[in-house]
Amino acid sequence: MTVTIGRENAIAVVTVENPPVNALSQALRQALVNAVAELDADAAVKAVVLICAGRTFIAGADVSEFGKPPQPPHLPDVVASIESAKKPWVAAIHGSALGGGLEVALGCAWRVAVPSASLGLPEVKLGIIPGAGGTIRLPRLIGPAAAVDLVTSGSPVSAKKARELGLVDAVLEGDLRTGAIAFAIDVAEKSSPPPISDRVVPAVEAGFWESAEKAVAAKAKREVAPLRALAALRKASETDFASAMEFERETFLELRGSAQAAALRHVFFAERAALRPPELAGITPRDIRSAAVIGGGTMGAGIVAALRDAGLPVVLIERDEVAVERGLVNVRAIFAGSVKRGRITQSVADERMAGIIGGDDYGLLGDTDLVIEAVFEDLAVKRAVFETLSSVCRADAVLATNTSYLDPGAISEGVSYPERFLGLHFFSPAQIMKLLEIVPAERTAPDVLATGFALARLLGKIPVRAGICDGFIGNRILKVTRAQAERLLLSGATPSTVDAAMRVFGLPMGPFEAQDLGGLDIAAFQRKAARERGETPFAPVADRLCAIERFGQKTGGGWYDYQSGDRAPKPSETVAKIIAEEAAGRPQRVWDDAAIADAVLLSMVNEATRILEERVALRAADIDLVKIHGYGFPRWRGGPMHYAEARSLAEVVAVLEGLAADGLAEPPCEALRRAAQAGRFSALAE
Ligand code: 3HC
Ligand code: NAI
Repeated sequence: MTVTIGRENAIAVVTVENPPVNALSQALRQALVNAVAELDADAAVKAVVLICAGRTFIAGADVSEFGKPPQPPHLPDVVASIESAKKPWVAAIHGSALGGGLEVALGCAWRVAVPSASLGLPEVKLGIIPGAGGTIRLPRLIGPAAAVDLVTSGSPVSAKKARELGLVDAVLEGDLRTGAIAFAIDVAEKSSPPPISDRVVPAVEAGFWESAEKAVAAKAKREVAPLRALAALRKASETDFASAMEFERETFLELRGSAQAAALRHVFFAERAALRPPELAGITPRDIRSAAVIGGGTMGAGIVAALRDAGLPVVLIERDEVAVERGLVNVRAIFAGSVKRGRITQSVADERMAGIIGGDDYGLLGDTDLVIEAVFEDLAVKRAVFETLSSVCRADAVLATNTSYLDPGAISEGVSYPERFLGLHFFSPAQIMKLLEIVPAERTAPDVLATGFALARLLGKIPVRAGICDGFIGNRILKVTRAQAERLLLSGATPSTVDAAMRVFGLPMGPFEAQDLGGLDIAAFQRKAARERGETPFAPVADRLCAIERFGQKTGGGWYDYQSGDRAPKPSETVAKIIAEEAAGRPQRVWDDAAIADAVLLSMVNEATRILEERVALRAADIDLVKIHGYGFPRWRGGPMHYAEARSLAEVVAVLEGLAADGLAEPPCEALRRAAQAGRFSALAE
């Protein structure tokens, strides 16, 4: 970390260099306080420019320090010292001014930014609130309504928007350092505006805070930070600066040590680590400048949209002209949806469509870098596709399958240059879901695997490497979760009580509602295949529902009944009767929400531990990312593995043993017992 002070006549330039993102480590905080003192004492200096080296302005507090006791100088004091400096400081912003970085900028007398900069207070996304005056200075500068939006959402704004809000004083084209120095020369001649802490918060209309509270609570669900941030903003508008600072700091320190913040920090670091798996360090991925998708159904169309969103030209291959047209209609519908939601404009949608060539002629793929197959889940159909691809594509083109359950090894038999083949398992809807399971086959080359990770980065997705097994990581855990949920039905729970308990835990939907939405037929198909392999999947009730074609919402009934045009699930007498028949003779018990959540989640953890032991997943955090980004597991719980570790693996083992003794769950696996002895999953890899 270095902070250097340069001079341009009467302007001092303080340059922060603390790679990779200029986070406010203790050393940097100290250096900033020292810089204020040094420049205050220098009579030749009329104004100060604060600028950063590297890719960004200060991106915030150093998140890796959050697990440790805070060390002085504390950030609020650093901001206060800049604010009370004798010379006006000008924050010159490029990249991101986030969290503590923006708070430092709010201590400056002026803020200027390049057009590509973004500014925000993302603390709530880490389970905390701003801790250095952000909730107090921001409403004084831009008014309470805009401050509520920024702080409770945690989403950054562009430089242009920041200018409109009054958050920055100028947007500078051209070289930032030169522009900021010119700006500083100009303002050095003027009197500085009063420090933000001396200003008052503009008044709000009656009922403003109450309605903000309702809106924030509805969005945050069980995440605590957004409402606590709102409380701090309200305090800032209702008391003096010093009392508000005290309130904000207390809340910040309390939340910093909370379970939700620990979980969100875990996910923050896991997401970043996922993009750079150590086992692929130093391996250069292949260049991907063009792509093709085979099959324009549900998944194919979504994958085409995702590739186009990332700027790649795409060829879409279907079986015949009619199917090509249908595939293009599917993709167009996705972009039309984005236009409707205001995510893109019509002209952007048109441009995205213009970058797609649809056809039934594989000759279009002669120079394509990456081909993703998303045809029917049928081994013979997929093999035929890859045989054709083998003969038409360049020898170095990467060939990928999006299969959910088939063995990629079997699909790739007969592929020429098999080292270029891998599984890329997208999740539905593929243009939205962030998870990408990357599945190497036996002969996949390291640079092809690395290409999968590079593609994920390009598409803005979270890549997780998964080994070959039935369902890879995510769907294998899902299978066990469903079986466990059925076990509960046979011992006294109902679909509604199980679903409600899982929603209370924080999942967007319970296991039975989710099956009704996606359709019970896909899992039934998997069970049929498993039975043909000699396995004995447990789904006594689901099997009977499928036998009477209760496949879910699409057939008007599944685990629940549905009235036409209404997606609200209604308890079904037919289902209750089947459950009662299947449960006959089994011991019954009373299930509360916590016991249901334990039985479902800890069984999930048990299977996930086997997955880890088998090295189908390489890291527990990868499993957390799979559940969060593929299945809606609440981020603030940190994923099932973080949840289990935070709760204590010994307790997880004990609960599972208790359930297993009554025949209500599988017993804890050997690997889980071993991990419990060490208290952490990472012990399994040692
Ligand atoms: N603290 C510590 N490390 C951080 C960090 C932070 N605030 N922000 C990023 N990093 C690390 C990442 O872990 C990553 O490390 P790695 O190379 O070892 O994996 C490295 O910096 C680069 O990060 P990205 O890969 O995310 O880089 P990008 O260029 O894609 O994105 C960014 C840059 C937009 C700044 C992004 O990193 C980001 O959003 N960072 C988080 C910003 C944030 O949340 N700040 C608020 C912190 S809380 C706070 O300030 C409290 C205050 O109010 C008191
Ligand atoms: P789908 O039935 O909606 O689409 C398949 C498409 O492939 C159809 O449009 C069909 O015309 C086309 N097709 C079939 N044979 C073809 C051939 N020989 N050449 C060119 N096109 C051909 O199926 P869906 O749901 O899109 O699934 C596709 C694949 O993605 C399957 O392997 C599935 O297991 C997998 N998958 C599905 C997910 C889902 O939620 N639907 C999630 C993740 C993976």
